[in-house]
Amino acid sequence: MAFRKGGIQIKSADQLAVMRQAGLVVARTLQAMAEATKPGVTTADLDSIARDCLSTMGATSSFLGYHGYPAVLCASVNSEVVHGIPGPRALKEGDLISLDFGAIVDGWHGDAALTVLVGEVSADIAALSKATEASLWAGLAQARVGNHLTDISHAVEQSSLASAAADGRAYGIVADYGGHGIGTAMHMDPHILNYGKPGRGPVLKAGMALAIEPMLTLGEPEVMVLDDNWTVITEDSSIACHWEHTVAITDDGPWVLTALDDVRL
Ligand code: MF3
Ligand code: CO
Repeated sequence: MAFRKGGIQIKSADQLAVMRQAGLVVARTLQAMAEATKPGVTTADLDSIARDCLSTMGATSSFLGYHGYPAVLCASVNSEVVHGIPGPRALKEGDLISLDFGAIVDGWHGDAALTVLVGEVSADIAALSKATEASLWAGLAQARVGNHLTDISHAVEQSSLASAAADGRAYGIVADYGGHGIGTAMHMDPHILNYGKPGRGPVLKAGMALAIEPMLTLGEPEVMVLDDNWTVITEDSSIACHWEHTVAITDDGPWVLTALDDVRL
């Protein structure tokens, strides 16, 4: 059995190995969807690719049926931030789409998201995606034994601010949503903010697994939920971007469980 310390589930090495299998399913499925993403493809098409991947790899969905969620994929286009429900919307040149996907293998979850640029996009959209991905990796690098939880939050924020300065603009850092612990459930303690002071919160221990997921916008950070009760959009209709990985904290450093290759930072 996995046990908990200070409310955060601790996994054995064997259990993390199973989480890596779930993470690989997630990575391969995200890759398949990213390769299929082009003008004319609908978000429902991408969801059905993901369903095929799950059945081929013998895994199940973390999302389908979660609080009644009706799909295996969250597909969030342009001003949609997260939790977009796949449907008949066809992608067009210049769109940005975040693909967020979770899989279960033998009861253990993996959760990751990436953003795909559809054809040629504007320079500011490309920069937004680069900045969001960079802030994710800055956070992952802090998922180390002995660090405090908010060292991750702080690193994500600092990276976002540094990219904004380098890009000559301000990015909105979405505050209403954040990362989370993950293991025998998709969403577990702790909640992980994408900003804040370092050195706060629980001390990170080997065997913890966290999903880190920064969300940045080209405008303000405020968001709201549509009438479908899922889709989160920016209040100012600005373009939003989302990247996520599940990472294990190990004595050998951060292990990115949802990377395609075996990534240890
Ligand atoms: N994967 C999302 C997250 O990163 C949650 C998806 S909500 C669901 O936390 F309902 F689609 F499952
Ligand atoms: Co998540």
